[in-house]
Amino acid sequence: MSEERTVTVLVAVHAPDEEAAAVTVLGAQPQVTVARRCAELAELLAAAEAGAGTAAVVSGDLPGLDREAVARLRGAGLRVVAIEDPATPAERLAGLGCDVVVAGGDAENLVAAVRGDAPDAAEPAAPAPDLGGRSGTIIAVWGPAGSPGRTTTAIELAAALAGIGAAAPRRSGLLRRHRPAPRPRADTVLLADADTYASSVTSRLGLLDDAPGLAAAARAAGQGVLDVVTLARHSPVVLPGVRVLTGITRASRWPELPATSLDMVFQRCRELASWTVVDCGPVLEADEVLMYDTRAPQRNGATLSALQAAEIVVVVGGADPVGLQRLVRGLEDLRDAAVPVPAARLVVVNRVRDAAVGRRAESQVRDALARYAGVDNVHLVPDDPAGLDTALLAGRVLAECASGSPARAAFVDLAGRVRELVPTGV
Ligand SMILES: Nc1ncnc2c1ncn2[C@@H]1O[C@H](COP(=O)(O)OP(=O)(O)OP(=O)(O)O)[C@@H](O)[C@H]1O
Ligand SMILES: [Mg+2]
Repeated sequence: MSEERTVTVLVAVHAPDEEAAAVTVLGAQPQVTVARRCAELAELLAAAEAGAGTAAVVSGDLPGLDREAVARLRGAGLRVVAIEDPATPAERLAGLGCDVVVAGGDAENLVAAVRGDAPDAAEPAAPAPDLGGRSGTIIAVWGPAGSPGRTTTAIELAAALAGIGAAAPRRSGLLRRHRPAPRPRADTVLLADADTYASSVTSRLGLLDDAPGLAAAARAAGQGVLDVVTLARHSPVVLPGVRVLTGITRASRWPELPATSLDMVFQRCRELASWTVVDCGPVLEADEVLMYDTRAPQRNGATLSALQAAEIVVVVGGADPVGLQRLVRGLEDLRDAAVPVPAARLVVVNRVRDAAVGRRAESQVRDALARYAGVDNVHLVPDDPAGLDTALLAGRVLAECASGSPARAAFVDLAGRVRELVPTGV
């Protein structure tokens, strides 16, 4: 079948002799046309996006070749065939998202790859020792603008999933003497700050505001070199069982978190941790100019990438008239997001208090969400300024400094609901 299809190839191979060899071999094949020899990546991208080819042959050492570039080529409908070289081994090229990787000088496989007859390159997967081969779960914590408590929810949920401060179950004296009490459930958790407008996990946990771990991981992913070891290096353990990928230090650095790279980062996160909790920015851009699938820079690409990757989206709203209204609209926005959001949704209303919604605040909030958003099982978190301010001041999670906090109890319950939603979760 492939014999009858004409393949139009764009060639961008760095070394002149290698380029000449590729062009000669491909040009001699029936139904294969070498449409363009591109001197550099920019020329290749322009030709691809002008619809000049159906396949691209690139050398691994082509300057500027990264995940973003490969995604653009594939987005333009090209099959991307990469030629391996000593500096860019096959694994890295597969990590960039290339469809097929062939060895340098392997004319037979190059032709097969261009024709679509060679098996696709599998994106390299590293072993996941602490998950026993299973794949971790991604939880995106999102909510509309107005500081409803996304970061608080993300941090406290991460702490609760890691079992920080969880008391061992009480046992009778007899049992305790003969058998040690089982450890409370504690998983490895990765907390990622993907808020491109106002990241704050770093200061909330009292960390140094230096190199953003998430941007470093995204950079490695963009270069095709993000493995689990590299991800672990960029995500230090800051609490027992909790690693952190810190966010960008200034909002203007948002281009350092491109969606094409974060897609790979989240894939790797699944291999490193049982749960990855992502603190997202508030905006789900619907402006066509900034749509996810164009090549315009994506201010909200990090949030959209997390939402697309997630198994669970925790949607956080504030328990006051403005916050509830935004939450109702936010749930609609999530349904109409620029990317498919296949995740289960857990709606959290934070800072529940009579003073902002009237008497019997809890039932008022439940009624409002049932009526206006069709949400029946909303999760309520009480207003707890004493607990949260103590945590804010100390740069700690509630379990460390305000263990009796009512908000903390609500976040521990939230972690229980998350576990129920992903029963096979690790
Ligand atoms: N349940 C609560 N009770 C009292 N204060 C709270 C509660 N939840 C959050 N806060 C406080 O509200 C403020 C905003 O919370 P947070 O930073 O989590 O919101 P956000 O949605 O991430 O905001 P941003 O838009 O800055 O990202 C913080 O000072 C936090 O301590
Ligand atoms: Mg925040």
